[in-house]
Amino acid sequence: MRSPFRAIIITGASSGLGAALAKAYAAPQTVLGLLGRDRQRLADTARACEAQGAETRTATIEVEDAAAMTSWLMEFDRAHPVDLLVANAGTSAGPEPESPSEGVETAARQIRVNLIGTINTVEPLLPALCARRHGRVAIIASIAAFRGLPDSPGYCASKAGLRAYAEALRPRLARFGVGMTIVCPGFFDSPMTNRFDGPTPFVISAETAARVVKRGLDRGRRRVAFPWPLVFGLKFCDVAPAFIGDAILRHYRFHIRPGWSE
Ligand SMILES: NC(=O)c1ccc[n+]([C@@H]2O[C@H](COP(=O)([O-])OP(=O)(O)OC[C@H]3O[C@@H](n4cnc5c(N)ncnc54)[C@H](OP(=O)(O)O)[C@@H]3O)[C@@H](O)[C@H]2O)c1
Repeated sequence: MRSPFRAIIITGASSGLGAALAKAYAAPQTVLGLLGRDRQRLADTARACEAQGAETRTATIEVEDAAAMTSWLMEFDRAHPVDLLVANAGTSAGPEPESPSEGVETAARQIRVNLIGTINTVEPLLPALCARRHGRVAIIASIAAFRGLPDSPGYCASKAGLRAYAEALRPRLARFGVGMTIVCPGFFDSPMTNRFDGPTPFVISAETAARVVKRGLDRGRRRVAFPWPLVFGLKFCDVAPAFIGDAILRHYRFHIRPGWSE
C-alpha cells in the first residue's frame, strides 16, 4: 500500500528502528527529515533513502536541546509541511545487578532524552499541524510503558510517561483533525538491544518492526503494540493485584549496559 505521508520527520534515524522506518518510507515524491547525533550513520541512512528516490534533509541535534529542535523543526515544516512526525529517539540504561537502584543521573537522563526529548520533538509542530487540520504524530514508547520492570526503573518511567502524554494529547488533537499513534514495541534487533543482557522473547528484526509500525501509521491506528503475548502479559501484571505482578516480574531479570556518549 502506498503511504499517505509525503513529508516525514523521524528522530533517531541514525540507528535501529528509526533508520529502518526511514528506509520503509523512502520513495519518490517523499521528503524525509532525518535527525540523529552520529553524523556518519545518519548520512548512511539518508544515502539509502535517496537511493530509493526520496529527498532527505538531515541534522545532528540532541533531542534535549529544545531551542535547536524547535528551530530546525519549524524551518523544515515551513519548507515541507509535515504530515508525519515520528518521535523515536531514545536511550536505555538500568541499575548495576547488585545495586538497589540506578541513581539520579542515570534515571534522570532517560527521562530527559526519552520523555522531555519527545516533548521537544512534538510540541513545536502541533500549532502548525492543527492549523492545517492535517497530519499524524507517532510516539515510540515500549511495552515497558504498560508495567514497570525491576531492572529498568528510569526507562519504564520515561516510557509510561510517553504513553500517558500521547494518550492525553490524542483526543485533544483529534478535535483539530490531527492523529496521534502511541507505539509500544517489544524487542527488536538494534544497538539498544545489543546492550541488553537477558532474555528477549519474540525478538524480531528492526525491519520487521518498522513494517508493523508503518502499517499501523498508514492505517491511522491510535495504538500499535506488539507482540501480543508480551503486551497481554504486562497488562495482566498491571491489572492483577500488585503482589501477583511483583511475584511474576521478580523472575524476569536483565541488565542494560549504558551506551550513551556525552
Ligand atoms: N530495541 C528494542 O527492542 C526496543 C523495544 C521497545 C522500544 N524501543 C524504543 O524504540 C526507539 C528506537 O530504539 P532502537 O532500538 O532503534 O535504539 P538505537 O538503535 O539505540 O537508536 C536510538 C536512536 O536514538 C538516537 N538518540 C539517542 N539519544 C539521543 C539524544 N540524546 N538526542 C538525539 N538522538 C538521540 C540515536 O542517535 P545516535 O545513534 O546518532 O546517537 C539513535 O538514532 C527508542 O525510543 C527505544 O526506547 C526499542
